[in-house]
Amino acid sequence: MDMMCLEKELREAFCWFHENPELAYEEFRTTEKIREILTVHGIEILPYKLETGLVAVIRGEKAGAVQALRCDIDALPIVEETGLSYCSKEAGKMHACGHDMHITAGIGCAVLLQENRNRLRGTVKIIFQPAEETSLGALKILETDVMKDVDRIWGFHADPTNEAGAVAIREGYVTAAVDRFVITVKGVGCHGAHPDHGIDPIPVAAAIIQALQSIVSRNVNAFHPSLLSVTRVSAGTTWNVIPAEAVMEGTVRTMEREDRVLYEKRLREIAERTAQAYGAEAEVEWIAGPPATCNDKEMADFCARWAETMGLPVAVEESSLGGDDFAFYEEKIPGCYVKIGTGIGHPIHHPAFMVKPEMLLPAAEFLSGLILGDQQE
Ligand code: NI
Repeated sequence: MDMMCLEKELREAFCWFHENPELAYEEFRTTEKIREILTVHGIEILPYKLETGLVAVIRGEKAGAVQALRCDIDALPIVEETGLSYCSKEAGKMHACGHDMHITAGIGCAVLLQENRNRLRGTVKIIFQPAEETSLGALKILETDVMKDVDRIWGFHADPTNEAGAVAIREGYVTAAVDRFVITVKGVGCHGAHPDHGIDPIPVAAAIIQALQSIVSRNVNAFHPSLLSVTRVSAGTTWNVIPAEAVMEGTVRTMEREDRVLYEKRLREIAERTAQAYGAEAEVEWIAGPPATCNDKEMADFCARWAETMGLPVAVEESSLGGDDFAFYEEKIPGCYVKIGTGIGHPIHHPAFMVKPEMLLPAAEFLSGLILGDQQE
């Protein structure tokens, strides 16, 4: 395989994906473009019925395990401010989380594996997954039986806190469980000058917001990372009317399964009983997202060794209570999720976030090497 050719092809593909961002569940043109490139390289696409996204397969010539690589493909509703010559052509949409790099590196990895089928043991499924930004796109893939025979899965993410091509790895927890809650406090509306005629939901909401922070400080084991953020509060329409309702929304991030259960229980108790103490009522809606991602030790160790063999800088991945729906895949099988440096710059989800294209080919080589495994050494 001519690496110069592949590099040129990947750079062109990357520019196309960057120029044509599509939001969650709308990745139709993106999916077609991926299909087109893979087909040119003779890579088989599995006949799963997915509205967006697709699964490619590379069948090794030797017997072995079934591995998967997850690449997420959706963009964000952000107005791009990079000034790049290949900036977004879609108003208000941008690949600000580097999923354009994920697609491109995934394609590059597929091409390299296809070229090395004689050395490849077992089968590899490359999953081009829609809607990661909703935290639930993985479920679209899991509705099919793609994962039924998969023994282990690899995942990766763009990392603008590291130089281009550097690999950041950590064993154990790398992303948090992501849950969302909505609390509706129901009082009785009345004139602003006669609070005694109603039940004001606003002081109730304030009391609940204060008390919720006692979950992390008083209920959770102090050695377990977790947090609760109230991110939206809304009540009332004007200055002289006490509203009947106040609504709060937010997120809970946990690493340990037991803490997730504890947060939901305490959040319900605090909201419902605080409201009751004020003569109001609280309704709690708990919307469960993905669990925490926990990297398999052996896979993480191999990853670090392989990055060193390739001569890539290796960094320890920073802990974060961010989430990724990659966690849904590795609830039942070993998995490993690594960060690949895209060049130090603006953080992901920032309108000026950029990927240095020189990291595309090394990223593809790194990923294909992970999958080829020990045979590489
Ligand atoms: Ni992302």
